[in-house]
This record gives sequence, C-alpha cells and structure tokens, in this order.
Amino acid sequence: MRFIMNKILIVFAHPAFQKSKVNKVLLEMVRNERGVTINSLYDRYPDFYIDVIAEQQLLLEHDIIIWQHPFFWYSGPALLKEWFDLVLQHGFAYGEKGLKLQGKKAMSVITTGGRQEVYCAEGRNHFTVNEFLVPYRQSANLCHMDYLPPFVVYGTYSIKPEEVLNEALKFKKVICALRDNVIDDTTLAKTGYLNQLTL
Ligand SMILES: Cc1cc2nc3c(=O)[nH]c(=O)nc-3n(C[C@H](O)[C@H](O)[C@H](O)COP(=O)(O)O)c2cc1C
Repeated sequence: MRFIMNKILIVFAHPAFQKSKVNKVLLEMVRNERGVTINSLYDRYPDFYIDVIAEQQLLLEHDIIIWQHPFFWYSGPALLKEWFDLVLQHGFAYGEKGLKLQGKKAMSVITTGGRQEVYCAEGRNHFTVNEFLVPYRQSANLCHMDYLPPFVVYGTYSIKPEEVLNEALKFKKVICALRDNVIDDTTLAKTGYLNQLTL
C-alpha cells in the first residue's frame, strides 16, 4: 500500500436534487473534504449539452471516479447515460489508443427506493444491486479502470433521518479511506459492498 492522496471526482446525477432525501445528505457530508471534487451533471448541463472536453479534463485530473446517483429503472438517470455515451470516447477511454483512464479506479454510489431484501434471487427484483451494476463494471473494465465495490443505500422511501445520517457518516469514512489509500486491495477484493467495511 502506498501512502498517497488520491483525488476523487464524484460525477453526480440527480434530476430532482431539491427533493432528495438521501443523496443530498451523502453529498453534503463530503462536499468540503480535501481532494474531493463534486461534478453535478444536472446543475452543469440542464439542457443535456455536455462539454466533452471539460469532462475529459476532469477525469484526467482525478484518480478515483465515482458515479453517484439514485437507481432509476435499475440503472442511472438519463443524463448520466449521455455522459457515458459522449465522454468515454473511443481513442480516449477505450480502443487501441484509448488509454487515458488506465489505472484509475471507478465505483458506483447508489440509492434505491427498494429495500435490501428485494434485491436478491428470491426477492421482488430477482437480482442484487451488484448484478444490476454489471454494465458499469464492464464499462470500467473496457476503460482499463479498476471497478471497486459499490456503496449502496437501500429503502429510501422508508428510511429514517437517523439512518440517513449513519449512512452518510459511513460514506464519509469510505471516501476519506479511499482518498488516503488506506484500504488494501485484498480487503477491497473480498468486499461485496463498501458499506460493509469497518473503518
Ligand atoms: C424514474 C424513477 C425510477 C426509479 N427506479 C427505481 C429502481 O429501478 N429501483 C429502485 O429501487 N428505486 C427506483 N426509484 C426510486 C429512487 O431510486 C429513489 O427515489 C432514490 O434513490 C431516492 O434518493 P434521493 O432521496 O436522493 O432522491 C426510481 C425513482 C424514479 C423517479
């Protein structure tokens, strides 16, 4: 493990942030942390006209890229998909000469309306969140990035304010630990969800 400070970019996508109960608290918890940049896509591009060069420059300037968003139809909000389509260009992020993201880390931070028990083979949604996130995992792989376990907050419809605060405190610990590079690779490889880590 090297003692370095990773620069973290949170690519945040929430089309109704003013109504957010969970993402807002998570984000506020890390907003002023050293080494953390928040890039709120719906604030920056309300018309969906993404500045590709600026977004690529932000990626180049950071070591860990986080896609944070509410789960929408088992995936991300539309503007995040547009971001993937435009920003992760051939020749930049993937393809023979597309090595600009090589060696960086990527991860997802997800909030779900569905409670944890519905996200399993026997549950109403039949699959785990990790299974639903396979397109993100493979996109990171294609871009030569190392996809970390996700941080997931379930059951946002019925979550209590004190539970939100607990998750947000845990989230801050995870972000700081990733920034300070204090979680070893073996631990990361064994962890299904970053919420499970005791830090
Ligand atoms: C268009 C739409 C699609 C949604 N799809 C899902 C879904 O597939 N699975 C799920 O568990 N929750 C789903 N939800 C619920 C959101 O994930 C939930 O409202 C959000 O995580 C709450 O986060 P917030 O408090 O930051 O707004 C959906 C909500 C909307 C508006």
